[in-house]
Amino acid sequence: MKFSEDFYWGGAVAANQCEGAWNVDGRGMARTDVTTGGTVNTPRMVTFIDKDGNKQKLPNHGFKLPEGAHFAVFDDELYPNHDGIDFYHHYKEDIALLKEMGFKMFRLSISWSRIYPTGEEEKPNQAGLDFYRNVFTELRNAGIEPLVSIWHFDTPLVLEEKYGDWLDRKYIALYEKYVTTIFNEYKGLVKYWLTFNEINNTINFLPDDASDEAYQEAYQHLHYQFVASARAVQIGHQIDPENKIGCMICGITYYPLTSDPEDILFNRSKWEKGIFYCGDVQCKGKYPTFTKRLWKEHNVQLDITEQDLEELKKGTVDMYTFSYYMSQAVTTHKNDDTVSGNMSFGVRNPYLEYSDWGWALDPKGLKYYLEMIYDRYEKPLMVVENGLGAYDTVEEDGSIHDNYRIEYYRAHIEEMAKAIENGVDLIGYTTWGCIDLVSAGTGEMRKRYGFIYVDKHDDGTGTMARSKKDSFYWYKKVIASQGEDLD
Ligand code: BG6
Repeated sequence: MKFSEDFYWGGAVAANQCEGAWNVDGRGMARTDVTTGGTVNTPRMVTFIDKDGNKQKLPNHGFKLPEGAHFAVFDDELYPNHDGIDFYHHYKEDIALLKEMGFKMFRLSISWSRIYPTGEEEKPNQAGLDFYRNVFTELRNAGIEPLVSIWHFDTPLVLEEKYGDWLDRKYIALYEKYVTTIFNEYKGLVKYWLTFNEINNTINFLPDDASDEAYQEAYQHLHYQFVASARAVQIGHQIDPENKIGCMICGITYYPLTSDPEDILFNRSKWEKGIFYCGDVQCKGKYPTFTKRLWKEHNVQLDITEQDLEELKKGTVDMYTFSYYMSQAVTTHKNDDTVSGNMSFGVRNPYLEYSDWGWALDPKGLKYYLEMIYDRYEKPLMVVENGLGAYDTVEEDGSIHDNYRIEYYRAHIEEMAKAIENGVDLIGYTTWGCIDLVSAGTGEMRKRYGFIYVDKHDDGTGTMARSKKDSFYWYKKVIASQGEDLD
């Protein structure tokens, strides 16, 4: 099957994972700048000075800055995002390679703290604005449509220190100022925008047995982001009616492990809490019916105004975009056959294979997700992240034979084609980490996703030289044949 001629084939990256240049040209810090590297079994750590002046670190996942502490960079720690893959200085070379592959779209994010270093300045940082203008212009000249994530986990660190992690209503106005600046600045250059990357992670990755306080904070954090997103959609449309603005959800296909009705119901609650809660607010402009139950389960009382609810109604997104890496089997039964790996949880699905990082490889789960979501919202869909994090070996002649990656993509593209045939309006596919970058979950370089290899390693060494893997030539062929030639 052929995909339509205007289908957006491409790839995706995020500022903090690829740009490097963390303290260059006036950029302020973000959480990743105080986060060390980890591995599949050891967490990334956040470094800070506690109220008594002692150096401390705590796991990044579920991190909350202790009372009276402040974030700090330590000389004896390695922070992989400081260098990333130095896209900041290599973007021309990188975009030339994407053009060679025939990319139609490139998803990247703007680092908020390059534009407003502390989040509270009155005027934006000109050097930051210039950098993205240059990148978008380079993309346009290469015939590649930019798809821009406005927020990819990188709130200015000063704001997080002052107001917690989206735990203050002030964030809405600060985000509005930021989006107004970039919508005005890049009018005519950028048309496709995403408001919050994987907005549902806040609730989706919260353990089922987390405290009521943790749930209270997660739902409040999300509410402020929902309102900020809705405001951004309205502002974006006012500034340029051509703008297409989407939500971005971490897409996981949940399956019940058994046919026990308790498992069926548990599975359904996973979809509701993890997937539909955010999608419904952003696509339908209102909280879903099951919200009352979710909040009641954890005694959640939110700061929500009538005006907020009006904003949600007026700020529904134009498209639903999502990442898809895996499915997850869930059960209410005691089952010790759990999956270990970063950000993966749930029990082992005996019908699936798992990646070296414990993520279930399930192309059919992508078709299931696409059809389920399209049926619910009937909005254009884009898969804006999908890919295989794997160990790559560079041969003596410099070649990289990543057949496993090709197989992974082939299977997922085939399932997308079937979903389109079944009526799903899928308009684009941007594979994750089309060029190797720092893993968000583990901070590793060795967890590689790219068609393009970057000579950068976990001990901080490497020349940053770029080279083409076998998958580079394969994806080029796929795009040229509009998805017909997958061999
Ligand atoms: C998504 C994020 O969660 O998954 C990306 O939007 C991230 O930022 C990607 O890189 C893959 O996860 P990881 O941990 O392999 O980098």
